[in-house]
Amino acid sequence: MKKILVLNGPNLGLLGTREPEIYGRTTLADIIAMIKDYAAGKGVEIDAFQSEVEGELSAAIVKARGVYDGIILNPAAYTHESVALHDSILASQVPTVEIHISNVYAREGYRHASITASACIGQITGFGPQGYLLALDALLARGK
Ligand code: DQA
Repeated sequence: MKKILVLNGPNLGLLGTREPEIYGRTTLADIIAMIKDYAAGKGVEIDAFQSEVEGELSAAIVKARGVYDGIILNPAAYTHESVALHDSILASQVPTVEIHISNVYAREGYRHASITASACIGQITGFGPQGYLLALDALLARGK
């Protein structure tokens, strides 16, 4: 059975009440339940972890090496600043899809640059919580 790790960065634990005009009303628990359900139908197991701390996310990515078949990563604000997460994705050698709930290219200029995306196999942005399911499909399609 394939195993996929879903990682979420800072402030994403507040989804549902955090700037709902941008991120919507769906909570992170809803998103994790949704992707677990979707993945189960495809014979895929999901583990999920959220942290405010860059080092914890970095450690989770590196420890995924040899354990997970793919990572779905919403690095949140670390997207735009973290060389450490970029390097961890490369070091882990686990195919990683970067996902953003909002369309970062339709927002402030400082969100237009992703430091982490170049270490990923691709990026999904602007499709809301549905983006997590698209990311799973992208990982599975790549494995075929
Ligand atoms: C985000 C976009 C980031 O720019 C922002 O810092 C977030 C959430 C998104 O999912 O749309 O925290 O990653």
